[in-house]
Amino acid sequence: MKRISQALLSAMMVLSLAACSSSKPAASGVSGTFTGTAKGMGGDVTVTLTLENSVITNCTAEGEKETAGIGIPALETVADEIKTANSINVDTVSGATVTSSAIIEAASAALTSAGLNPEDYKTSAVASAAAAEDVTKDTDIVIVGAGGAGMTAAITAADAGSSVIVVESQAMVGGNSVRATGGMNAAATKAQQSNEFDETAGVEKTLASAAKNYADNTAITELAAAVQKQWDEYQANPTGYFDSVELMELDTMIGGKGINNPDLVKTLCENSADDITWLSTIGIDLTSVGSFGGASVKRIHRPVNAEGKTIAVGSYMVPILESVMKDKGIEVMLNTTANEILTDDNGAAVGIVAEKNDGSKVTINSKAVILATGGFGANNDMVKGQNPALDGYITTNAAGAQGQGIKMAEAVGAGTVAMKQIQLHPTVHVAEDGSANLITEGLRGDGAILVNKEGKRFTDEVGTRDVVSAAENEQTDGVAWLIVDQKMVDASAVIQGYITKGFTVTGTTVEELAAAMDVDSAALVASMDTWNANVKAGTDAEFGRTSFADPLDTAPYYAITVQPGVHHTMGGVTIDTASEVLNTSGTAVKGLFAAGEVTGGVHGANRLGGNAVCDFVVFGRIAGTSASEYVK
Ligand code: FUM
Repeated sequence: MKRISQALLSAMMVLSLAACSSSKPAASGVSGTFTGTAKGMGGDVTVTLTLENSVITNCTAEGEKETAGIGIPALETVADEIKTANSINVDTVSGATVTSSAIIEAASAALTSAGLNPEDYKTSAVASAAAAEDVTKDTDIVIVGAGGAGMTAAITAADAGSSVIVVESQAMVGGNSVRATGGMNAAATKAQQSNEFDETAGVEKTLASAAKNYADNTAITELAAAVQKQWDEYQANPTGYFDSVELMELDTMIGGKGINNPDLVKTLCENSADDITWLSTIGIDLTSVGSFGGASVKRIHRPVNAEGKTIAVGSYMVPILESVMKDKGIEVMLNTTANEILTDDNGAAVGIVAEKNDGSKVTINSKAVILATGGFGANNDMVKGQNPALDGYITTNAAGAQGQGIKMAEAVGAGTVAMKQIQLHPTVHVAEDGSANLITEGLRGDGAILVNKEGKRFTDEVGTRDVVSAAENEQTDGVAWLIVDQKMVDASAVIQGYITKGFTVTGTTVEELAAAMDVDSAALVASMDTWNANVKAGTDAEFGRTSFADPLDTAPYYAITVQPGVHHTMGGVTIDTASEVLNTSGTAVKGLFAAGEVTGGVHGANRLGGNAVCDFVVFGRIAGTSASEYVK
């Protein structure tokens, strides 16, 4: 700490001297508070700099319309970096590039308004002056990755009395979880009961699929028999909303094409309702229940804002999980990339080695290690190594999803499963700035349709992602339009966000919308008319959709271009139902636990929407509990 302060002082002096000796006497020795503004992701970002003798002694950034959970935390991170480095040559936060760049631009404008030359602040004085210092720490449990699984595991382990340190490769917590938009699947919950049951066709379609496609899969036939019995009983006495743990298991197994590990699926589904309750005890309320692809009934649990509109689940949950960790005194080391799991003479995991982004080495000695590093969707080399057809696909994943946890685990003997199973999400929007943005499946569950460039529907929009993506890839240019109406916009803050970000085109009539989309007007009008008639009749003869919501009949109408993007890597390290990592022979690697997308086996060949949040909460909690029991 002392060395850093001294380095900071020297760096400031160097910069002040440079300013004093420059040929701009009016600019030297400026003190005071100056502001600058630049355009961010959702609106203006304003930076306020405090200068003392031309040295930046404080920096704050405001931008309330930046994306919650992604852009908002970047405001603090980047402003802190500017202050610490006395420089505007700082790193952007991955995933929040537009916001980060706006902060830097606004800081530059603030310097200009102070009569200073921003160019003089483009060398990272402190970064080069400060000597990187290696550190060694001791704890009961070290958790690698501060996404949903890592944070849930940390909270659970701390509650069980363990000391915990979390390391995170990125500049902020949240990983892929902060990008999750949909919600959390859970079966037989109280929140489901507030819905009217209208999913008879969905349940029967699932039972028919089990009989037709999976007659030789024992796990599926057993589940289907249990569900058939429950369904018969419900139909004889239809009270309340129909769902069950077994139906969620059946959906998850069929969605995963029957290659999931049935024990892990059972654990996922059995714990789902209790974990919705646990979340509410830490201030996370998922109360609005909706339809998602591959679910026979409404099962995805979503948060709502004060006006009752659904909001994105990840940017709602992550700040709460982060603040709960803070309240519990859990140390989180950001910008710290783990690259090795330490083992003792018996092969048990006893810590990690990591590198901070200043190049210093971090050694954490522990009694147990939990891997929660996420998948490898952002690592194109790894993706194409597993499935060459996916080379160069856009991805919804955060930059940290590099598969590093899988490699570290393999180095200490862990087995892996289903590595080739990589999911394409069918509705990813490429914005004007080139970024790939997830357009939530919830919109289709709530009534949106997909049409191709010819203005025609081409699939059951709430089919599983593999099926919808494959159908989309067959359309002209492999793209589609997702269409919603004003009624849907009024119910969803998520869609309102897409409109604010400029992702949509709009029309006050379907004809006007067709012109904005540049598709054949008569074809689009016919598609919309047929769809609205389908909704009223509750059938879809052409594509067999069984979930309808409301007709799309309230102007204005909105459309967003979408295409498939890499979304989830179903494969990963092998675990058992206690979240223990298994070696290639199926025996536990002592002291090593894993949760979330770094693991394989839960989702088989295709993950259902809403099951990732369920996965990270259920297995995050199990990993936290198991590791705590192990270290006692
Ligand atoms: O489309 C979505 O909102 C994604 C949800 C998920 O992957 O679980």
